[in-house]
Amino acid sequence: MSAEIIRIAPPSGAYDVVVGEGLLDELGDLLASRTFCKDAFIIADSTVASLYLERARTALEAAGFTVGSAVFPAGETHKNLPTLGELLEDMAKARLDRTGTVIALGGGVTGDMAGLAAALYMRGIAYVQVPTTLLSMVDSSVGGKCAVDLAAGKNLAGAFLQPSLVVADVRTLATLDDGVFSDGCAEVIKHAVLADPRLFESLSREALSKDDPHERLISVIARNIDIKRSFVESDEREQGPRKLLNLGHSIGHAVEAASGYTLGHGHAVSIGLSAITKAAEGLGWAEAGSAAAIIDALDRHHLPTSSPYPVDELIGYARLDKKCDADGITLAVPEGIGHASLRHVGFEEFARIIALGTGAS
Ligand code: GLY
Repeated sequence: MSAEIIRIAPPSGAYDVVVGEGLLDELGDLLASRTFCKDAFIIADSTVASLYLERARTALEAAGFTVGSAVFPAGETHKNLPTLGELLEDMAKARLDRTGTVIALGGGVTGDMAGLAAALYMRGIAYVQVPTTLLSMVDSSVGGKCAVDLAAGKNLAGAFLQPSLVVADVRTLATLDDGVFSDGCAEVIKHAVLADPRLFESLSREALSKDDPHERLISVIARNIDIKRSFVESDEREQGPRKLLNLGHSIGHAVEAASGYTLGHGHAVSIGLSAITKAAEGLGWAEAGSAAAIIDALDRHHLPTSSPYPVDELIGYARLDKKCDADGITLAVPEGIGHASLRHVGFEEFARIIALGTGAS
C-alpha cells in the first residue's frame, strides 16, 4: 500500500514525515532523494539495535551511504549527559564530518539523545528520525524537541532542532510489548481530545491495536502527525499554543517522577489526562461528561486512570516541573472533546487541581 507523507513547515525549515509499511528497507532511497550527504551515523539502543540496526544499515549502504553506528543501553535511566558524551565521542571517532547525518533509530529516548547529539556535534549537523514505537511515531519524532534528563528532573538539558526527515515503518510496531504500544495510545487519545472529536469517537468505539490492519495504523498515525504539525508550525518554540500539547503532562510528569520513572511515559500521561479532566469538570471548565468519556477511552486502551501516589507527593514533584514560572504554571485544560485552552494558575490553585483530579473521590 502507498505511504502517507505529511509536510511539516515550521519557520526553521520544512521536512517530510513518511508513514507506511516496509519503509525501513527503503530508508536509504528515502534519504538519498532528499539529501546530498554521503555519511550516515545510526544511533540505537541495545533493544532496537538487535532488531533493526542491520536492516537499516543494509538499506542505507544499498543507496550508497557510508554507515557508522553507536549503540547505548536501553532505558530512560540512560538518557543522561554521560551517555550523550559517549555518543558524541563515538561520532568523532567515526570521523563523521559536518556533512554527515545522524539516524535516530528507535523510540523516544533514542530520538531525544540522537537529536541532541546532532544539535551539539560540530555546532549542529542534520538528523533523521526513524521512530519504531507508536509514541515516537505520533509525538516525539516530530517537532524538534530533543533533551536528556538531569538529576534535578526530566528533559532539563536540551535543544530545538527539527529533523530533516522522519520515516515511520508501521511494521516495527509488531515487536512492541503491549504496554509500550499503550504508551503511544495515551498520546493518540491526547491529540484526539485536543483537536479531533471524530478520531476520539473512533478510538472509543474500537481501541487501537498493534494487530490492526496497517491501513488503520497508517491513517491514525498520519492524522496524529497532522494534528501535531498544526501546533509546531504555529509555535515552533512553544511560546504559546504548542503548550496545549502538554495536555495531561503537568500532572503526568509528577506521576512519572513519583514512580521513580518505572511507569511508562504514556501511562503517566494517561493518569495526568484523567486527573486534569476530572478537575476541569469539577471546576466547571470542561463540559459535563468529558471525564467519563476520556477515562472510558483510556480504559479501553489498557491505560491507568487513577493515581496510586499520595497527593502531597505529586504536588511536590509538580512544583519542580520546568513549565512552572515564578507565580505558578500554564496548564493545558480540556474544555470538552476536541477543544482545550491554556490557563495560568498559581501554585495553591495548582495544588487544589491536583488534589481534585487525583484524590479519592
Ligand atoms: N510533546 C509535546 C511537544 O512536542 O510539544
